[in-house]
Amino acid sequence: MKKTATICLALLLLKAGTLFAQASRDMPGIIEKDGRHALLVDGKPFLMLGGQAHNSSAWPGMLPKVWLAVEKMHANTLEVPIYWEQIEPEPGRFDFSLVDTLLTQSRKHKVHLVLLWFATWKNGSNHYMPEWMKTDASKYPNITGVKGQPVDSPSPHSQATLEADIRAFAAVMKYLKNADTQHTVIMVQVENEPGAWDSMRDYSPVAQKLFDGPVPAELLKPEVLMDLHRPVVSGGTWQSVFGERADEYFHAWYVARFIGQVAAAGKKEYPLPMYVNAALRDPLTNPMANSYESGGPTDNVFPIWKAAAPAIDLLAPDIYLPGYERVMKVIILYDRPGNPLFVPEAALIPVNAKYLFEVIARGGIGFSPFGIDDNGRGETAAETTARLAPFGQEYAALAPMMRELAGWAFEGKIKAVVEGDDHADQRIYLGDWQAVVSFGAEKRGGKLEPNIEPVGKLMLVQLNANKFLVIGSLCHLTFHPVGSNTGKAWQYLKVEEGRYVNGVFKPLRILNGDETDWGGPRFGETPTVLQVILITR
Ligand code: DGJ
Repeated sequence: MKKTATICLALLLLKAGTLFAQASRDMPGIIEKDGRHALLVDGKPFLMLGGQAHNSSAWPGMLPKVWLAVEKMHANTLEVPIYWEQIEPEPGRFDFSLVDTLLTQSRKHKVHLVLLWFATWKNGSNHYMPEWMKTDASKYPNITGVKGQPVDSPSPHSQATLEADIRAFAAVMKYLKNADTQHTVIMVQVENEPGAWDSMRDYSPVAQKLFDGPVPAELLKPEVLMDLHRPVVSGGTWQSVFGERADEYFHAWYVARFIGQVAAAGKKEYPLPMYVNAALRDPLTNPMANSYESGGPTDNVFPIWKAAAPAIDLLAPDIYLPGYERVMKVIILYDRPGNPLFVPEAALIPVNAKYLFEVIARGGIGFSPFGIDDNGRGETAAETTARLAPFGQEYAALAPMMRELAGWAFEGKIKAVVEGDDHADQRIYLGDWQAVVSFGAEKRGGKLEPNIEPVGKLMLVQLNANKFLVIGSLCHLTFHPVGSNTGKAWQYLKVEEGRYVNGVFKPLRILNGDETDWGGPRFGETPTVLQVILITR
């Protein structure tokens, strides 16, 4: 059975069209097949169970608490910034000592790294530029607001800034290529939440001249215009082609083109997968860009970013928005053909852990809550464990089987349900079975005590017609016979609780009696892994 599954996956990987030229057996890379993606690490699908350090924690004195958090969280990947201001203290003089420290220590802790290039843009500002750039505002300018006011955001129209960023990022990637032949670093984030707060674009004379000029040919392709919900036209100014969205689209194009060039220069040295993260807009109300960070890879400007920055492998949502409907919509919007789903940041709150299941079921390549270390607060190890528990418990259950999960996800075998704000039951269709999931904690006699927060979740892998691997917490699962099973009596042939060890399910116990009566197994606060076999009679 196991051998067949392995052969199927190997064949699938062989057949998979390599969407991104850099994917090979040894280099980390991303492949696509039938709209699903896999991140390959050491030639095999890898599920990133990540955690991101706080912004100012990639310094040697802070790292012990970062590693403590990684360990307590059972993460397999640390997302960690590298700072332009530290790496290039003088023009052209590079210091990679912090990169070396990160490489050495992550290998010691047996985790992979995603490096975050905090450079021209960090949350829309220039605050990580080296001092020699910050003090030369005329050479490395910020943008100008609509009333001529200064705006705390770098200009994407500055050739000097672009050249400086390209030179520094290319130097980083060249250094990594030699220093990291074992591929500890599996992905790189280029900039951080780029765009501008407080202004939809640059209104300086240089920018205005470009804005009054023609829209570039790449954006006039019919498929791009249709994707942007604009009439197909053969040319015009930004205002005439894009109307009320012109300011934002103009900024998105120039920010994306800038970052696309930085990424391309880095990939020329060392072609790791690269992505850009987005400060999101409300996905439900189509607001204007004066209410969010303008020019970043928000859902409405995907076609612009894809056209302007082909060296970027994926655009990724940072999930801080509240509410089930909103977050699910974000996940759907960023899970599209040609854009592997990856959540590089999410607020570290219990209610967000369930979205990890949704991302895995959609074939996403990873998930990473933000701010895992204590950030200098002086937490004890026990306090860190408690703070990270909502994710730590999930990761502890999933980490031993992350390679299997990544493979099943790539094959489209995983389905998930996560508890909505209405706490309503949810159904999963599985051929001749339907799984029904109710949310809550177990009470005596099979009754459920509703969850106060909507934190319940369940993920199900269909191993064959009647056999399922199920992982869940704070919910109850039962099955109904449907399709050709309709009307038949059924029962559990066997329900085993266990864990994966070296690719094999090792049972801890058979669940029966009180543990599976009243319809089926109940999952408590700590996620458990069950192997379930059903029969009809
Ligand atoms: C999103 C940014 O990308 C992070 O670097 C950090 O600033 C968080 N916001 C703050 O919570």
